[in-house]
Amino acid sequence: MSWLITGGAGYIGSHVVHAMKAAGEQVVVLDDLSTGRAERLPEGVPLEIGSVLDSEVVSRVLHRHAIAGIVHIAGKKQVAESVSRPLHYYRENVEGMRVLLAAAVAADVTRFVFSSSAAVYGMPDVDLVTEKTPCAPINPYGETKLAGEWLLTAVGRAHGMATASLRYFNVAGAATPALGDEGVSNLVPMVFQRLDAGEAPRVFGDDYPTPDGTCVRDFVHVTDIATAHVAAAHRLTADPGVEMTLNIGRGEGVSVAEMIDVIVRVTGKPNVRPRISGRRPGDPARVVASADLAHSELGWEAQHDVRSMVESAWESWRLRRS
Ligand code: WQD
Repeated sequence: MSWLITGGAGYIGSHVVHAMKAAGEQVVVLDDLSTGRAERLPEGVPLEIGSVLDSEVVSRVLHRHAIAGIVHIAGKKQVAESVSRPLHYYRENVEGMRVLLAAAVAADVTRFVFSSSAAVYGMPDVDLVTEKTPCAPINPYGETKLAGEWLLTAVGRAHGMATASLRYFNVAGAATPALGDEGVSNLVPMVFQRLDAGEAPRVFGDDYPTPDGTCVRDFVHVTDIATAHVAAAHRLTADPGVEMTLNIGRGEGVSVAEMIDVIVRVTGKPNVRPRISGRRPGDPARVVASADLAHSELGWEAQHDVRSMVESAWESWRLRRS
């Protein structure tokens, strides 16, 4: 029984591929290599190059490899870009999901794990976000992830597919230096970039209603994200009728200022004072997961702390620049 990992040559996808393989699963990767790299894949994992939007390619891959389960990670994930290019995001993330699901149903795929996001919650006004917290996305990226969840649930019910949508919170770190995040669109790499340039890190607003005035997030190690996917895949295999939507976070809030402090200490850069700039539109003051349901449904909980996220991310950042 093989699993197809879409987007498996990317930052999060390659961590999931390594974790699934290490757990003894047969995996195949479908990736268009628009941002992913084949070098991220372990030996012996077949790579099919193509887009989930290409139904002929998808169907051929599902039949060629006798795929029984899919982990769908391929997609566009930059919030700001989704605001300026909504049509691109809805095509890639929603139409791509529809094409993939149609091919999955036609090929009798019976298990589907979907890469969703905390962005579906928008600006939740709660201390801890549970899966019952109302979803009110505030950008097209979050909308496309919520639409993907709805589509998956409807298809799972109509066609007897076991499904799990995993809502990632703020992902950071790397299992090995070679697998680090090559993008610079989130806090940790953005601060690395500033420090490397000898510039002060920027804090987008310090007047939020939080203990130190900066935004609070739930940072989770990418290795923990990957083990959550393995646990979900095993649960769908054991429980063919299951339908789950789960927060994947640590359940602990860390502020932007606290994170920057860890980054400055780990990188050993001179103790620079962050530069406070204006708030970034659309930033919620606090988004922190309750991860209780993932623990009860999957027996999963995050194992890595913020320092290990920053240390592993920095090691990877330096490797790529050495
Ligand atoms: C975190 C905090 C910034 C850079 C988004 C998506 C989410 C997920 C992660 C995919 C914010 C502040 C940042 C900087 C700063 N993506 N910041 N200075 O916006 O919480 O979440 O990316 O699933 O779904 O919504 O992540 O890393 O962009 O920002 O002060 O140089 O750090 O304002 O408060 P975000 P982020």
